[in-house]
Amino acid sequence: MNISQLCTDSVIYTANQQLPGPTIEANEGDTVVVHVVNDSPYPLSVHWHGIFQLLSGWADGAHMITDCPIQPSANFTYQFNVTGQEGTLWWHAHSSLLRATIYGALILKPRNGTAAYPFQPPYGEIPIILGEWWNKNVNDVETDAHLTGLGPAVSDALTINGMPGDQTPPCQGAGVYEVEVASNETYLLRIINAAVNVELFFKVAGHAFTVVAIDASYTDPYATDVIVIAPGQTVDALMATSAPPGWYYMAANVFDSKTVPIRFNTGTATAIVKYEGAPNDTVAASMPAMPSHTDVVTAGTFYWSLTCLVRPGDPPVPTAVNHSMLVEFGMEQGPCAPDQTRCQGFALVASMNRYSFQFPRNASLLKAMYDALPGVYSEDFPSSPPPVPVTTTKATSVKKVMYGDVVEVVLQSRAYTGALGTENHPIHLHGFNFFVLAEGLGRFDPIMAEGAYNLVNPLVRNTVVVPGGGWAVIRFTANNPGMWFMHCHLDAHLPLGLAMVFEVPDGPAPNQLPPPPVDYPICY
Ligand code: C2O
Repeated sequence: MNISQLCTDSVIYTANQQLPGPTIEANEGDTVVVHVVNDSPYPLSVHWHGIFQLLSGWADGAHMITDCPIQPSANFTYQFNVTGQEGTLWWHAHSSLLRATIYGALILKPRNGTAAYPFQPPYGEIPIILGEWWNKNVNDVETDAHLTGLGPAVSDALTINGMPGDQTPPCQGAGVYEVEVASNETYLLRIINAAVNVELFFKVAGHAFTVVAIDASYTDPYATDVIVIAPGQTVDALMATSAPPGWYYMAANVFDSKTVPIRFNTGTATAIVKYEGAPNDTVAASMPAMPSHTDVVTAGTFYWSLTCLVRPGDPPVPTAVNHSMLVEFGMEQGPCAPDQTRCQGFALVASMNRYSFQFPRNASLLKAMYDALPGVYSEDFPSSPPPVPVTTTKATSVKKVMYGDVVEVVLQSRAYTGALGTENHPIHLHGFNFFVLAEGLGRFDPIMAEGAYNLVNPLVRNTVVVPGGGWAVIRFTANNPGMWFMHCHLDAHLPLGLAMVFEVPDGPAPNQLPPPPVDYPICY
């Protein structure tokens, strides 16, 4: 798609010539079928972020984990059922940095339509997809990052529904997303953070929100005038249009949790909420007062105040844990690789339990598991970090758990030791939702933490923000055979190795993974 943005003409890769790509809407219980034709020059997988993929792991679209990418001019049909999920999810390319421009909303309505929402059905619904924009081909951004061995260059702007808005210098008058609303009604904002590397604040001038869901799971209503959202997460928020009729800015700016917050302040993206019949006047539109981009208090308050809405019939938190893991992750300086030609002395490496995840080359992990192919991966991912400091190893190492096991993972940011990576890391798990039982700063202490576990109404998520130098405890039931990626959703950290994989073998019949679809992409 040719696009002119921030006074720069570029060619970008999008779905159906749209930025954001098309919204996919389904009801709980539906089967979703998406035909993907790869017209780009890059191998491509598309991931349905947050979808359980019950017995359809082949369709998860995690590049080299569940499938080999769709080659240029080839195609693949993704098919999956929406089982037991309602709310806002999204889809995105899961290959290189292509997800910067190949993404869209995936909206799951209740089986019986909006009447079944656990809140008053809203008058209207507005998808808000927050993103990041580079004036460069994003694959060049990725290549540059590789050649230097560091993270990618900071983006040129933030976007709301694909557009930076009118506050981003030096190019005033860039595209502005506008939405018209009726007075004195309630709207459901379905907010998605599709940005590549940044957590965000989001506000609408003169309006407040009631959060009702996150990551497609309902929350207790939470009143706030600011939304905080990390890459990979979604927030559903009700907004009453009870302000005096007029035009109001919505705005998003960066929340930078790093202790040296100098790099990622990419300005403010804006969009406009217009009341029907209000005077045609942008000058009068008021900007919301945004938190400063280092406002950890506002961010922490939002992240840590939410609780799950427990409804009759919801599965309780499982209490008997079969696998207890401590996964310590972090960043460090490693040697430059020979192909990192612009590397200046060191390259960044990220690891989990000292394994820096390497993507397999010749087969996806799922196909390798299914066909019992030797040599593609090892099953030696440790349940806890090495007791004595060891060198980080690059490996394709998975953690095998049994079907039906209850897995508890303490996600520990190694930055408490003074290691690199003091920023928050949004850790995303494919294939499952997990309960977030507790979070804290510093080093996880099992005795202190145990009493603090929320076993009553913990948040149910697919992406949790682990505080920089802190920890989060998650628990899930491995009731879906497959190979399930768990990784940092800051894209810069993924090629550095901040990832691991859960291998879940087949359950008892009928809970067995069917064979791959006939058009399943193979590797070359
Ligand atoms: Cu939205 Cu593996 O990612």
